[in-house]
Formats: sequence, C-alpha cells, structure tokens
Amino acid sequence: MIKIQGSQRIGILTAGGDCPGINAAIRGVGKTAIVKYGMKVVGISDGFTGLIHKEYKELTEKDLSGILTLGGTILGTSREKPFKTSGKGKNEIKKPALIKEHYEQMGLDCLVCIGGNGTLKTANLLAKEGLNVVGLPKTIDNDVWGTDMTFGFDSAVNIATEAIDRLHSTANSHKRIMIIELMGHNAGWLSLYSGIAGGGDVILIPEIPYDLEKIADYLLHRSVENKPYTIVVVAEGIKVPEKGLSPARYISKRINELTGLETRETVLGYIQRGGTPSPMDRVLATRYGSAAAELIARKDYGKMVALRNNEIVPFPLDEVSGKLKLVDPDHPLVAKAKSMGTRFGD
Ligand code: F6P
Repeated sequence: MIKIQGSQRIGILTAGGDCPGINAAIRGVGKTAIVKYGMKVVGISDGFTGLIHKEYKELTEKDLSGILTLGGTILGTSREKPFKTSGKGKNEIKKPALIKEHYEQMGLDCLVCIGGNGTLKTANLLAKEGLNVVGLPKTIDNDVWGTDMTFGFDSAVNIATEAIDRLHSTANSHKRIMIIELMGHNAGWLSLYSGIAGGGDVILIPEIPYDLEKIADYLLHRSVENKPYTIVVVAEGIKVPEKGLSPARYISKRINELTGLETRETVLGYIQRGGTPSPMDRVLATRYGSAAAELIARKDYGKMVALRNNEIVPFPLDEVSGKLKLVDPDHPLVAKAKSMGTRFGD
C-alpha cells in the first residue's frame, strides 16, 4: 500500500446489532478526518468479517454526504467475534492474526470500531495485539460502561414510547391489561425510560426482581378502584420460570390466571432498531464521530469516546471491556416513578 507521507489512513467498521445513528457517526468520523485533517478513510464491510476477508472500500467526502438521516449502517454489520470463534474448527483460520495482517496490508493507522459491548471488547483485544484502535459506543440498550449514553438509545426510546402511547387507547376501550415487551438485552434502560415516558403503570426490568402475586393484587385493586386498564412494560431480559415462553407471553398468561382480567401482549422487536435516528441521536453520534477523529489526529489510541456530564471525553477501552452498565435499583428515575405510584416488581 503506497501512502502519502504524513497523512493518516483510517478504517471504520460497524459491528453488532445495528441501531439508528450509525451512519451519522460514520459521517462524523469521516468528514472530520477528511475535511479537517486530510486523512484517508476506508469503510470496512460487515464488521470484523470485512477485516477477516479484507473487504473494504475507500470513502470520499461525497460518499459521506446524504447519510445523516439514514437508519442501519451503510457499511453493513455482523456479530463476528474473531477472538471467540478463532481456531475452533480443524481448518479454522487464526482470525486475530489475519486481521492484524490485513490491517497492515490495508495501510491503516487506526481502526475505528463503532459498536456495543461485544464490539468494544474485541476492539480492546485488538488494541492489545498492537493495533491502533478508537471506539464509539452505539446500542439501543444503553448498557456500555463508561458513558452516560450510547447513541441509538434515544431513537429507540422514541419508538417504544410511541408504541406505548398507542396501546393506551385500545387498552382503555377494551378494559384490558396490555403487556408490551421491549428490547434491551440484559439491561432495563429502554424499558425504564420508555415506560416512564409512555406512562407505564408497571415496569419490569431485569435489575429488579418481581413478585407476580403482588402485581396481580395491585391490578385487581386498580381495576376496581382506579382505572379500568393497565399498561405493563416488560424488558426482554427479565427471567421467566417457564421455558419457551417470551417474557410478554409469560407475564400475560400469569396475570390472566391470577386475576381473571383480560390480557394482551405485544412484542415490539426490531421496529425499535430500524429507521431514521432521532435528532438527539444525530447530534450525539455526530459529536462522538467528530471527537473520535480528533483522538486519531492526536494519536490518542486505545480509547472510547464517552459522554460524561454532557462532555465528550476519551475513556480507556480497557476499562469499558467486559463490563455492563445496568440500572441501579435505587436509580433516581426508579425512585421518582415509584413515588408517583408506578410499580416495579411488587
Ligand atoms: O443489542 C441490541 C439488541 O437489539 C438487543 O436489544 C437484543 O437483545 C439483541 O440486539 C438482538 O440481537 P440480534 O440482532 O442478534 O437478534
């Protein structure tokens, strides 16, 4: 690879589950790198898979134009975990070594990894292998350690809130208990925020144990004394004792058995991850992207850009790796909602 003396060449990849705002982040990194620093930018296809197969293309300023509002990722993504799946089968290639070789062959000075926990863990392992790496925290789950917020989260909260809003009228018409299951993996952030924003009456998240008999008593009392319908927001990560049932199905079934009240469930699913990013996510992803390019210009590698007290700051990837940012059961938002009558688990 022939390189122009002095100019840095960076590779960008997006890995893990997609979310709104990824293209805004790619644009933020790429435009700052090209316009401010005259760097060369390449887009790597389908996360770490693209590095294993050396699939990439040069990105010009023009390629980065018109993508701010687009959902998904123009680069494609995958859940490839090169350190986990490497060398398993008989003829399996040693993926980290191959990635390192390709990084050098592609003439990269830095690899920008846009992703959630799994991606940032891999990024950190690659940094330990000697690659220059910078990470950006993206996920609708908002569970990345070290940052106050990931991009993608705000858009998902908006989508989930709209869904909950729409359940109120149909629940009221039929006097039903409506259960809505939201994503979030093992974290309850999405259910907590959307549940509060959408006026959920009961919010069940993985971080707070639940007692369905107590919830059932509350729902019966509510149906007689208070309101004829109830919205129950359930995070996908809560534990249910019946194998093969989704959290929404299980909660719906048990509430019906315990109360005799009519229940219906909705599993919102991938709707939460699709489509155009919210304005807040566009701004956050742009701030992260631009800050990542600044780190590269300073050769400040091995860091994730993080939002801390509304400032974008570098945070060591080594401290992010392997940790999860979960909801503290005593989180002020939980306490506030409880003081207004919202039930969490009992
Ligand atoms: O991490 C984002 C997320 O949407 C989680 O909320 C969910 O549990 C998971 O990804 C779904 O993963 P997949 O896209 O592999 O089905």
